Amino acid sequence: MLTSTRSGSLQGHVLVPGDKSISHRALILGALATGTTTITGLLEGEDVLATGTALAALGAGVEKKGPTWVVHGRGVSGLAAKPDTLDFGNSGTGARLMMGVIAGQDVCTVFTGDESLSRRPMGRVLAPLKLMGLGVEGDGDTLPLTLRGSTDLVPIVYELPVPSAQVKSAVLLAGLHAPGKTSVIESAPTRDHTERMLRHFGAELTVSRERNGTAITVSGDAELVGNNVAVPGDPSSAAFLVAAALITEGSQLTIKGVLVNPTRTGFYVTLKEMGADIRYENEREEGGEPVADIVVTSSPLKGVSVPSERAPSMIDEYPVLAVVAAFANGVTRMEGVGELRVKESDRLASTLAGLKACGVDAAAGEDTLKVHGGKGVPGGGHIETHMDHRIAMAFLVLGLASENPVTIDNAAIIATSFPDFVEVMRAAGAQIQQLES
Ligand code: S3P
Repeated sequence: MLTSTRSGSLQGHVLVPGDKSISHRALILGALATGTTTITGLLEGEDVLATGTALAALGAGVEKKGPTWVVHGRGVSGLAAKPDTLDFGNSGTGARLMMGVIAGQDVCTVFTGDESLSRRPMGRVLAPLKLMGLGVEGDGDTLPLTLRGSTDLVPIVYELPVPSAQVKSAVLLAGLHAPGKTSVIESAPTRDHTERMLRHFGAELTVSRERNGTAITVSGDAELVGNNVAVPGDPSSAAFLVAAALITEGSQLTIKGVLVNPTRTGFYVTLKEMGADIRYENEREEGGEPVADIVVTSSPLKGVSVPSERAPSMIDEYPVLAVVAAFANGVTRMEGVGELRVKESDRLASTLAGLKACGVDAAAGEDTLKVHGGKGVPGGGHIETHMDHRIAMAFLVLGLASENPVTIDNAAIIATSFPDFVEVMRAAGAQIQQLES
């Protein structure tokens, strides 16, 4: 168990771990490429390591040399080893992207995961992959699932029924194997790291405006060539530091080298609308992705309405936005957040329960979350994280500025995405202590 207590100002220059989405993709494309891929800044969180272990079990070489990860690829169709099972732990991204990888390999294996992942819907990925030729035993849509790849995939044109980068990516990865062109059409933009990185590895990929959205098209029978990837800092992890600095008086933090791809920065846009003093410095491009140092100074905040169109660009940041909203003057209304129900936990329910446990006036609808904020957040809650790393970190942040300490029930789950969260926060001045359970 961990507890966070009202803290003085947070100060300093900090680094956050590598972006989780980009880290998964770097390992995967490295394994599907010919030759060697080197990755610096890889997130060594449990989710990403599970993907690395799965790729190694399928025959790719994945090793760490000093601070660099080296992947010896097997070529697009060359993951020939036949493991009985692949365990993705807590990671929806790992499991879903790897379904797209398996689809085109001559492999039959069982996908498994932890209790949280075993509750999450896989049908949204299996539906298009089945159309392409993936074999799925049974008609279940949760793990464990037995999947049979095919060396005869067919290309498809697939309109995304939900705005999901995981589904988009799985279809594009499978499309690498199919002859001809595979297209995914999205009506709302979702994170585009797969597209950027496929191009970086030499795939042929086009993006065009269509009547019903944006079509992303990948050419099949592809050859990928190993490359170097520098993974920027994760804006979803930086969000906890930014939030903590905003709500603890007199704070100023610089978070160096953070990914600021516009498909990921909805949280920062929203905070600025709330009155937050946030600046990007040293804006640059690294490895095909926009990166900046984020400078944040604690600020008086006001409640805002967050439109549903913004949800895909900040989908993982709603729990911590709800925490910030508790300290903002007035009501913050978040629209179009139904997808939160199928994350590592039902995040709408766990965020609401956490806020209430901390004495915050909040309400949720099917697709909305409303937080009444103001000064004097009581805190004092014992938070059930439901195996959800972002719930754990969000409520530890709340405890840094509330009147009473906040305790979370599961500290270990934080290692999913931000293994040194507690050390980084403490170094900036946050009061976070381990409690004997
Ligand atoms: C991710 C996409 C998002 C996000 C997840 C990472 C990715 O999920 O919540 O943490 O790397 O593609 P969805 O695609 O299901 O929205």
